[in-house]
Formats: sequence, structure tokens, C-alpha cells
Amino acid sequence: MPLSKFLINMGTRRNRIGWRFIVVLTLGAAGFAVAPYVLIDPAYSRVQLDSSFKLHFPLLLVHIFSSFLALLVGWLQFLPGLRSTHSHIHRLVGRIYLSCVAIGGVTGLIVGGYTESYIRQVAFLTLAILWLYTGWKGYKSAREKQFEAHRLWMIRNYAFTLVAASARIVTPICILIYLAGHRGQMDGSVEAVLRQVLEVNIWLGTVLNVVISEWIIVKRFKKGT
Ligand code: HEM
Repeated sequence: MPLSKFLINMGTRRNRIGWRFIVVLTLGAAGFAVAPYVLIDPAYSRVQLDSSFKLHFPLLLVHIFSSFLALLVGWLQFLPGLRSTHSHIHRLVGRIYLSCVAIGGVTGLIVGGYTESYIRQVAFLTLAILWLYTGWKGYKSAREKQFEAHRLWMIRNYAFTLVAASARIVTPICILIYLAGHRGQMDGSVEAVLRQVLEVNIWLGTVLNVVISEWIIVKRFKKGT
């Protein structure tokens, strides 16, 4: 079957709706975050740039665009049937995806060293190490033709890629948790509350994605598929 026809007919109706929802939601959330950087102008950077480190902005851009490309192409690898019907495309996209993860992860480690907030910094560094580690395990298991292990590591790896989207999607939940814990009152301005929320959203997004990916893996294991 040609690839274009395959993409249109992929999976069951329930699968198709689920996939479309996830793809639109995650690409929307991540695309919104990437948008200010398309102009390649440090004046629009939302990240506080360190003037003593000249490569801060260039490396941030490399990080953002390579990571975004990983997020864009990664979901293709999970399309039911694509692996078996178009394995050459699966291999090609896999190489592009893992190269982007390697570049995005290493640059994420470097720019993470300059993140102002200590709590966010530890979150980014933890995430970068987990992202690189699971990517390496996924690559290694594919090279060794251990395809079941490869699938499990790639589910874990893509879950970390999707933290870029889930960390933003959970922001309203973090605000609600804040309000619930403060009897509906804000201590200070909206900006001050948002600053506190942005200290924890990466952690919450990471925990949530790990739980979901491990749940998917356990379900798979039980089904034996
Ligand atoms: C999963 C591993 C990832 C790690 C460890 C990571 C790490 C980082 C770090 C350290 C920063 C600088 C934040 C700061 O200094 O305040 C950053 C910013 C950014 N990253 Fe990532 N990132 C990851 C994945 C992604 C992905 C998949 C995307 C795709 C959209 C992405 C898009 C961005 C964007 C748009 C910014 C700028 C944030 C802003 O304007 O507030 N990152 N990332």
C-alpha cells in the first residue's frame, strides 16, 4: 500500500481519533512554545540569556529546533502497521528522530547549566539525562535486533520528548492546585504565582509522562503484543 493511503487509513476508528487528538494537542502546545524563536532574534527569547556566554542563544535555538523536529517526527514511529509495511521509512525516520534527540539532549544539558532557577535546572538536567539514556538504549536494542526491548525503550524515550508539551498542558492544573492550597487566594501578583507554577510544571509533566508510558508498557506486556 502506498504511504499516503496508509496514513489516511491507519488503525481503527477509535485509534485514529485518539492519535489525532494527541498529535494536535501536543503539536499545538509545543508549537506555541517554539513560535517566539522562529524569528531567531534574542530579543524575543523567553529564556533569560547569560550575556557572558555568547553561545547561549545559538545553542538554545539548536536545542529548540532539533527537539521540536524530534517531537514532530517521533509519533510517526508509533503508527500501527507502519513498521511492518514501510520498514525502510521506519528506519529512516528513526535515525532522524534519534539524531534530533542526541542534539536536543546535549544542547539541553548545556543550556540547562545556565537556567536561572535551581529547581527548574535540576528538572531539565534530570530530563536531559533520561532522554539521552533511553534514546541510547532504544538505539542499542535496535542494532542488536532486540525489537521488543527497542519498542519499550522508544515508548519511554518519546514520553520524555512529550514532556515539552505535557509540562505546558499541566500548567492550568498546577494553578488549580496552587489555588486549592491557598483557599482560592493568590499571595501576590498573577506573575508571582505563575513563577511558582513554572518551578514545578516540568517535574509534574515528567512524572505524568513516566506513569502513562509505564502503564502503556505494562498493558502491552500483559497482552503479550
Ligand atoms: C526532553 C528533553 C528536554 C530537555 C532536557 C530540555 C531542556 C531545556 C532547557 C534547559 C531549556 C532552557 C530553559 C531555561 O533556561 O529557562 C529549554 C528551553 C526550551 N525548550 Fe527544551 N528541553 C527538552 C525537550 C524539548 C522539546 C521536545 C522541545 C520541543 C518543542 C523543547 C522546546 C524548548 C523551548 C521552546 C524552550 C524555550 C522555553 C521558553 O521560551 O520558555 N524542549 N529546554
